[in-house]
Amino acid sequence: MTNLRKCAFLLISLAAVGPIMAQQSTPAQQPKPPEGSKPMAIKGAPKDPTELKIDQLIKKMTLAEKVDMIHASSSFTSGGIPRLGIPELTMSDGPHGVRLEHGRGWDETLVHVFDSATYFPTGVCLAATWNPQLGYQQGSALGSESNARGKDVQLGPGINIIRTPLNGRNFEYMSEDPYLVSRMVVGEIKGMQSQGISACVKHYLANNQEIGRSHIDVEMSERALREIYLPGFKAAITEGGANTIMGAYNKFRGQFCTENAYLIDTILKKEWGFKGIVISDWGAVHNTMEALENGTDLEMGTDLSMLPNPDYHKFFLGDTVMTLVRDGAVSEALVDDKVRRILRIMFKTHMMDHSRAKGAFDTKAHQMVARKVAEEGIVLLKNTQNLLPLNKNVRRIAVIGANADRPNAQGGGSSQVRSLYEVTPLQGLKNANSNVEITYAQGYTIARGAQADKALIAQAAQAAAQADVAIIVGGWTHGYDYAVWKDNAYDAEDVDKPDMNMPFGQDELIKAIVKANPKTIVVLMGGGPIDMTQWENTVPSILQAWYPGLEGGTALANILYGKVNPSGKLPMSFPVKLEDVPAHKLGEYPGDDTTVRYNDGIYVGYRYYDTYKVAPLFPFGYGLSYTTFGYSNLSVTPAGPGKVTVRFTVRNTGTRPGAEVAQVYVHEAKCSVDRPEKELKSFEKVYLEPGASKTITLTLNKDAFQYYSEAKRQWVMEPGRFDFLVGSSSRDIRLTGNLEL
Ligand code: BGC
Repeated sequence: MTNLRKCAFLLISLAAVGPIMAQQSTPAQQPKPPEGSKPMAIKGAPKDPTELKIDQLIKKMTLAEKVDMIHASSSFTSGGIPRLGIPELTMSDGPHGVRLEHGRGWDETLVHVFDSATYFPTGVCLAATWNPQLGYQQGSALGSESNARGKDVQLGPGINIIRTPLNGRNFEYMSEDPYLVSRMVVGEIKGMQSQGISACVKHYLANNQEIGRSHIDVEMSERALREIYLPGFKAAITEGGANTIMGAYNKFRGQFCTENAYLIDTILKKEWGFKGIVISDWGAVHNTMEALENGTDLEMGTDLSMLPNPDYHKFFLGDTVMTLVRDGAVSEALVDDKVRRILRIMFKTHMMDHSRAKGAFDTKAHQMVARKVAEEGIVLLKNTQNLLPLNKNVRRIAVIGANADRPNAQGGGSSQVRSLYEVTPLQGLKNANSNVEITYAQGYTIARGAQADKALIAQAAQAAAQADVAIIVGGWTHGYDYAVWKDNAYDAEDVDKPDMNMPFGQDELIKAIVKANPKTIVVLMGGGPIDMTQWENTVPSILQAWYPGLEGGTALANILYGKVNPSGKLPMSFPVKLEDVPAHKLGEYPGDDTTVRYNDGIYVGYRYYDTYKVAPLFPFGYGLSYTTFGYSNLSVTPAGPGKVTVRFTVRNTGTRPGAEVAQVYVHEAKCSVDRPEKELKSFEKVYLEPGASKTITLTLNKDAFQYYSEAKRQWVMEPGRFDFLVGSSSRDIRLTGNLEL
């Protein structure tokens, strides 16, 4: 195997936990199907003309043809039936760009340019914009690229709740807060599907850590499930209309998520009425009978073309299904239901009549969407001494840190993108102002276990001392070489971070730079918080840049120079230290060999910090601007049964145009069950010229006031006094009102 070949192999094996063959799953070995999980009956002839066409097609299919449609035919396709004009379903990762090609027909040793795509800011950066319209735009640009690259299903968005900062895939996800996730995901899915392809929201459910992801059994209360972990998925399906959803690798209450009776059959299909396709994560099916009966519609997995004798018929939803149906052990109607779902989405996305309008990829317009998202997603965490925006007196800048000069598009695992180009922070600063002299010093070396490098630090400190301003770009890393990504990556699939400490001796570096030049700005890359305790109070300006996509360096420079006024807000709390995190303090992480218990329940993120009075370093919803905003005139009025109108005015009280995310939190003063100190229930991003103001009117419905009662097994609104907290972050509440409901 050449090195490249090895990389490709590693990549494929990471995308699925080994080729799992269905031989292990003969009927004799099947555990009894869980009680209550009956084959789904299809009653009566559907009236809808498309459903009638589907009936006709299903009637013409042999059992073998049906079964071919419910499992992979290559690493990113599932079977079609050419004689009936049914194409293969073609899929691609991932949440922030169309992945480079893999699998059948692709020679991995070739360097392709025709499988490039726009590398958009990752999910967490998109969420930090708090701008659902921008979510729509990014979704729509991504959908267009997916379509142009010949895909039918784009494997994203990823919306698992950010429960611990250590999760290696937080960068792909959105938030610790179910309401923010819901608003952002609906916009993104609608945008993606406006381009004719299908979104695939993932990973359903509770894939909140990478350690043990292939087997860990997640236990949580029904209340935590309903209030924290389900709402984003529910919104994606019932409001966003996602055509497909991906079952997670892990278990939930003892059963693998991809074939979980409660999650898929009871909640997704019966409660929410989902009519689309449940796709397994790659290699996530473990049992033919459970997958058949509990609602898995399509089994995807390892690219067996890499192995000597690829045979996808050996998948759990392959030949074994034929045997089971022929032996009368399962009803063919079960298979028909899966085929029907696949065909339904094929008709809906114009795969059958080939009339889908063509998309485009690598366009200037898409690159500009990526830039806009980065400009609105980068968060200004601290800005004292008026260091930012950089003023005209700044003639020499020392740019320091390996992250300043490092591309990220190919990092992180299955979400990798072959970006046509990527403006790094260093490049962005160089492009921004030719009158400013830029020197670059690496400062630290990216390698697992690398310690502070005295020589690199001395060199960087010297550069800083000679400059007007030092900009350190550090934080987490992503790994851009597939073969070794786990050696140096912290934000990546299949690995969690060992702790929250700055790797590679960056604490020492930052301290030395501040000493050499107090005018130091720290820019942090990464999917979430990092421990800043050693230097935070000595550094005048700090920004969180996430992984900001192919135009990230431009966006960052625009913010540093004040061409763009920052408006990003944290979609997650930044704790002072790891020990403060509720998952670690109240709950378990990463659990034992088999199980992780979410004893933290509903107290995830700020719900915990605020209720338990633990001060975070930077709170949820927080982010600075170069201007200031004033809040006034709050009114809270009933607007019909269970509805409340919240009205207030936001004014730009500073001297620059800017955008503010006005946030509305709700708290029930007294309740028979514990409720968090506050919960986000509405928000709006407003753009205001200096001196301008806008009256914001937001209507909250009963969802904003209910909790999930475990005793009654339903949502309950308990009458009483509700407080309405309006502000600029979860801890910067400017107006309060209340109402008896
Ligand atoms: C990941 C999914 C991804 C799939 C296909 C899996 O390892 O968990 O997010 O879509 O591989 O690459």
